[in-house]
Parts: sequence; structure tokens; C-alpha cells
Amino acid sequence: MTKDTSNQMWGGRFAAGPDAIMEAINASIGYDQRMAAQDIAGSRAHAAMLAKTGILTDSDAEAIREGLLTVLSEIESGTFEFSAALEDIHMNVEARLKEIIGEPAGRLHTGRSRNDQVATDFKLWVRDQIDAAIQGIAALIRAFVAQAEAGAEWVMPGFTHLQTAQPVTWGHHMMAYVEMLGRDLTRFQDARARMNESPLGAAALAGTSFGIDRQMTAETLGFDRPAANSLDAVADRDFALEFLAASSICAMHLSRFAEELVIWSSAQFRFVTLSDRFSTGSSIMPQKKNPDAAELIRAKIGRIFGANTALLMVMKGLPLAYSKDMQEDKEQVFDAADNLMLALAAMEGMVKDMTANRDSLEAAAGSGFSTATDLADWLVRALNMPFRDAHHVTGSLVAMAESRGCDLPDLTLEDMKSVHEAITTDVFDVLGVHNSVASRLSYGGTAPARVREQIARWKEAL
Ligand code: ARG
Repeated sequence: MTKDTSNQMWGGRFAAGPDAIMEAINASIGYDQRMAAQDIAGSRAHAAMLAKTGILTDSDAEAIREGLLTVLSEIESGTFEFSAALEDIHMNVEARLKEIIGEPAGRLHTGRSRNDQVATDFKLWVRDQIDAAIQGIAALIRAFVAQAEAGAEWVMPGFTHLQTAQPVTWGHHMMAYVEMLGRDLTRFQDARARMNESPLGAAALAGTSFGIDRQMTAETLGFDRPAANSLDAVADRDFALEFLAASSICAMHLSRFAEELVIWSSAQFRFVTLSDRFSTGSSIMPQKKNPDAAELIRAKIGRIFGANTALLMVMKGLPLAYSKDMQEDKEQVFDAADNLMLALAAMEGMVKDMTANRDSLEAAAGSGFSTATDLADWLVRALNMPFRDAHHVTGSLVAMAESRGCDLPDLTLEDMKSVHEAITTDVFDVLGVHNSVASRLSYGGTAPARVREQIARWKEAL
């Protein structure tokens, strides 16, 4: 490592090295070392291109490319000594390369700058995370589909305002999350397609006078094409923001289901039993089994959305092109990515392991006058009543049942007739929860037949 007081990368015009506080505020090596593999891949692609275009000799480029592999293996094996004086991963790698191969190392930075280098490294890193998120979401979708398939026709209460609304099927509820996660998945795919342009060769901001081949480095690094404007290429962090925005929405979905699990696993609901593998106990209350994983997933949205807001704030006032403010992009994205992957994996584990308590679900499905809408619909269909009148008649019957402390199917035909004399015994057919859900056959409805169609569609898609 360098022992000079002024920096060996840019120390030419400096008489003295930086203050210790300057070094502390300036250095990003503490975290951007996570992009070491991307940095070395980018540099190897750049060196190969410099040789192909005749800007470097083949032997210099070969020495650089080999030396970079040695640096990578040192980093991977943990023997590499990172230096804060060398600021960031880019200069740490280059300085070590110089120690290993000598003079040719100084030729690697021809026709590029740290500005296009960092944009390239960070894009490659975010692209890998997008791929990981897509994998994680697909696995979670599979877990939800399996739950839906197991209980496609089990009944449970559907809620609005967390008040009993109408019976739905367990399968339908599970498949609602499949739809949300399916949109999350395509959001990441869309972001990936949009971001996949190479910044490398944009140099500091204006491009370069060397005859470089940006198409070649773009291809080598798996980009679809080089970014078309060098100023934009080094100043753009949209790709990181899109990743954070997509992550925020996905985490919000995870948080909603986590909240349901917290409610459903309570002694008051008993809709689901979470596995011991994803629960914790209490050090004082022996009966407790807490849904900690769900609670932590519910909280993760906070830091992911925080990262999204933080990066928007970092970017919003920056004139083109690169400003050092942009170094603050990485920690936010690293933290959000780590926590999203963790939340996806934990949710997948919980969904796979959880047991739906079919009897509790069914008992709850029938309480709270959940089939009142079915009764009103029956009055419309069987007696040709306007829906508003049917709503009123049903309301009177609900009030009667409520005052007696019973549910709608417990009323007698005489009770019904006392409110509206044309009601017949057929009405009792629609008051059962299984008939209720089976009747909701409209496209996208909760009927088991419809739910099974959606399950089949998703299994095919996956
Ligand atoms: N560590 C810097 C970052 O993460 C690398 C780019 C530095 N560029 C510069 N012109 N100082 O943004």
C-alpha cells in the first residue's frame, strides 16, 4: 500500500496529504469494497478493449488482466489490505495492481475515469440484486400458490375495515398475494431492461479522445448497449432509484401479509399456526409463541423506503454531471438490498411452514352476518326486489339476529316472513358459507372453481 502523504492517484498538484477528518469523510472503501468483483470485471473488460483498439499493447493488457485476477483472489480470500487513504475500491484495486505488475498498471486508466467506472460497477451490482430479487419473489410466489392449492375451497371471512364482510376462500386470499408479487416481479424485470446500458467509456463526463470501443465493453459486461450520452451516463442514478422504488413496493406487500400473520396467529383469531422455526418464545411468559419474523418483515419497509427517500434527496439538487454527493448512493442501496432479500427469504419460509387452521377459518367465516349480502342478492333474484329495498329488508333481519344473539341461518322462516312475507325456505340455501363462496363465479371471484383456474394459470406461468 502507498506510504506517500499525498495521494499517488492524484497527488501531482498537492503539496500535502489530507487531514484525518478529510480522509474519514471522503473514504468509501469501508462499504464499496462490496463491488470488488464488479470493479475487476469492468477493468478487465476495459483492458481487453484497449488492446483490441491498439491503445495498449497486447502484453500490457495481458499483464493487467492477469494481475487483476490475482487482486480478486486476494480480496476473495480475505488477505487484501484495504486502505482508507486510497479512498475507494477503484483506487485500492489499481494501487495493488501496480504493486503486483508494476508500470503497465498505470496504463489501465487510459480513456476512462472513476466517474464512469463507479457508475459501471454500481450498475453491475444493482443488476445482480435485481436478479436475486426476481428469484426470491418467484420462490415466494410458489409458496403462496402451494398454500392456495392446498386450501382452494376452504372458507374464511373476507374483511373490509377489518370487519367481517363476505366469506372468501383461503385459496383466493393466498392468490391475492400472488398477483401483488407478480407485479413486483415484472417491476424488477422492467427496471432491469431499462437500466442495462453501459456507462463505461463516458470517462469523466465528456467522453474521450482515445479511439475506444464502447460497444465491445458493453457486450463483455452483459449490457444491451452503451449509454448514449456521456454526461447522463456518469450522472444517472435512476437505476438505483428504480431498484429502491420497486423494493419499497415489494416490501410494502410483504409487510401487509406480515401484518395479517401477526393478527391471524393471535389466540383471538387462530387462523394460522406459524412453525416453531419462524417464531420465538418469551423469557417470562411460558405460553408465548411470538411471530417475530413477521413483525421484522413488517418493519423492513421503513428502512427500504427510507433509503429510497434518502437517495432522491441526495440526487435532487445536483447539477450535471458527477458530484461527490453521489458516493452516498451505495450504503442506502446495499442496506435496502440486504434487507429485501432477507425479508423475501423469511417470508418464503413462513408461508411454506405455516398451517392454516381450517376449522377456525370456517367457524369465523360464518360469524358476523357474513352472508347478509347473499341474502340481499337472493331477495333481488327470487323476489325481483330493487337492491336498495333488499338491502333494507336484510338490515332488519341482521338487527333481529343481533338482538337475539344468533346468526342469520339460525332465524326461522317465520322470523323471516315477519320482516317480508314473500320470503320462502329457499333463502336458507344462500345463507351457508360454502354456497356463498361457490356462487361468486364472476371472473376474478372467490369461487373455488375460479381460484383453481388462477392457480393453474400461475403454475403454467412459473
Ligand atoms: N468513490 C467515488 C464514488 O463512490 C468514486 C468516484 C469518484 N470520482 C471523483 N471524481 N472523485 O462515487
